[in-house]
Amino acid sequence: MKYLNVILFIIECLLIISDTYGKCGELFLTVNAVTDVLEYNWNFTINCEEIPDSLSILHKSTNEVILETINVTGKTSGYETSNVVFRKQPLPGNWNFEDENRTLSNVCYPFLIRSELNNKTIDSNCIKIEPTWMQNFGELQIGNLMIPGTHDSGAWTSPYVIVPLLNKFLLTQKYDLWGQLVSGIRYFDIRVGVYNNENPKEWINHGAFKCTRMKAEFNKIAKFLNASEKEVVILHIKSFENPPNFTLNDHQTVLNLISDVFGDYILPRTYEYVHNLTLSDIWATNKRLIISYNNEDIVKANDFLWYDIVHKWADTTSVEYLYNYLNSVKNNHNHTKNPFCALMAELTPDENYIVNNLDKSLGYMANEVNHNLNVWLRKYNWSDVVNIVATDFFLGNDAISIAIEANERKKNYNKIIKYYLQ
Ligand SMILES: *[C@@H]1O[C@H](CO)[C@@H](O)[C@H](O)[C@H]1NC(C)=O
Ligand SMILES: *[C@@H]1O[C@H](CO)[C@@H](O)[C@H](O)[C@H]1NC(C)=O
Ligand SMILES: *[C@@H]1O[C@H](CO)[C@@H](O)[C@H](O)[C@H]1NC(C)=O
Ligand SMILES: *[C@@H]1O[C@H](CO)[C@@H](O)[C@H](O)[C@H]1NC(C)=O
Ligand SMILES: *[C@@H]1O[C@H](CO)[C@@H](O)[C@H](O)[C@H]1NC(C)=O
Ligand SMILES: *[C@@H]1O[C@H](CO)[C@@H](O)[C@H](O)[C@H]1NC(C)=O
Ligand SMILES: *[C@@H]1O[C@H](CO)[C@@H](O)[C@H](O)[C@H]1NC(C)=O
Ligand SMILES: *[C@@H]1O[C@H](CO)[C@@H](O)[C@H](O)[C@H]1NC(C)=O
Ligand SMILES: *[C@@H]1O[C@H](CO)[C@@H](O)[C@H](O)[C@H]1NC(C)=O
Repeated sequence: MKYLNVILFIIECLLIISDTYGKCGELFLTVNAVTDVLEYNWNFTINCEEIPDSLSILHKSTNEVILETINVTGKTSGYETSNVVFRKQPLPGNWNFEDENRTLSNVCYPFLIRSELNNKTIDSNCIKIEPTWMQNFGELQIGNLMIPGTHDSGAWTSPYVIVPLLNKFLLTQKYDLWGQLVSGIRYFDIRVGVYNNENPKEWINHGAFKCTRMKAEFNKIAKFLNASEKEVVILHIKSFENPPNFTLNDHQTVLNLISDVFGDYILPRTYEYVHNLTLSDIWATNKRLIISYNNEDIVKANDFLWYDIVHKWADTTSVEYLYNYLNSVKNNHNHTKNPFCALMAELTPDENYIVNNLDKSLGYMANEVNHNLNVWLRKYNWSDVVNIVATDFFLGNDAISIAIEANERKKNYNKIIKYYLQ
């Protein structure tokens, strides 16, 4: 019996090692937040027997067509923009909002990146959706998972985009909440506006500006919870922007909408205090929506609300400052009220920045952060210790795949420990 365990342990280790075997370094596509072109990302420093000399972007429908090739001889790592526009694609795998018969796994968009050496394919990867990634991580604790999220999640369109300056500095996302969930995002940062003279009254704001209708967006979350069986969504009601004097009545308006739309999907606050709450514990309740609300009195009065999730927010326009700040707080999860901790991985323009950078935009600022974030999360191993990571224009970074890889490592690590202790 003892020997059997040792043999099982060795097999398990080999399986874990073989997970990473056969790949050559890092190779992935991102989307530029300003121009919407695909970007090559590669790093062949580690894990490559042969260093590729060229990269291609291909379109794959019934057959594969090479759209563009670049020569990377002598450049073992980097990123580069292509001329291939990633136009607003339908979501693959029947995951458009109106579709049925959805594919319950990750699904590639019809764009691939391929690395080659002397015209021989070394490795390839696609840009993809991850609508069901959580189903593999039941044994992991919600505070120990890496969870990809978005910042100002509802700001993907706005009545104000017709004002050119606002068009540049108001929107933080390109996908609605449905598209974000289907892509793999599981944390939403929501700013509320209640306009009592309008019908409907409830909006998702970015600061003082109305962006999208709250009920329509929240309905998309409810539909996603129904379309999936194991996905857990964290809805963080972070701030109350309008009216400036946000009254109890205004809170009640928001709470009524939340109860109407989500009903039985909401996981009550009693679970906030369950030690080591895992995804499987949550699945067992089939209440897969966690709502965190940034008003302590309102939370105390409503047992379906969780306390405020701490935002680690640098409030800076400098990438270097952002790095130093996030690096110093990434592991700082000692929050008493709530198992979550959200790293806000984006730059924040102030009036001064906007006045002096009228040619720039939130997309421009997101590009600056997103390329670096991939390196911070992977190379500096932040992905092993962070919890929620919320970004702007998330297709510009690889945080969803990085989260899945990191959670896979934690799961395998747990397995090894378990065999070892047997
Ligand atoms: C790629 O670049 C290298 C170094 O600049 C050059 O020697 C080589 O000829 C190029 N290969 C092709 C196929 O253009
Ligand atoms: C590539 O990976 C190596 C080894 O982890 C690292 O030192 C280097 O900074 C990485 N380069 C980029 C651009 O990510
Ligand atoms: C659902 O999708 C599968 C695989 O894509 C296909 O074989 C099947 O015919 C589809 N069923 C319906 C009802 O569309
Ligand atoms: C790779 O294929 C292209 C197009 O078929 C050809 O022009 C090129 O010479 C080939 N390069 C090598 C290194 O074989
Ligand atoms: C989705 O809704 C349908 C119809 O109300 C219900 O039968 C089904 O159990 C729901 N599925 C999930 C995963 O909640
Ligand atoms: C906020 O609104 C409430 C109710 O309308 C009112 O009683 C209160 O005086 C207002 N407070 C401020 C600071 O305007
Ligand atoms: C469970 O939670 C307790 C208290 O927070 C902690 O001491 C313990 O290490 C946790 N167990 C695991 C397996 O993480
Ligand atoms: C707990 O967090 C606070 C701020 O979030 C920080 O100042 C403090 O150093 C942390 N303490 C520990 C023991 O990590
Ligand atoms: C990241 O983790 C790897 C594997 O455990 C280790 O070899 C490497 O030194 C770590 N890098 C940093 C910057 O801590």
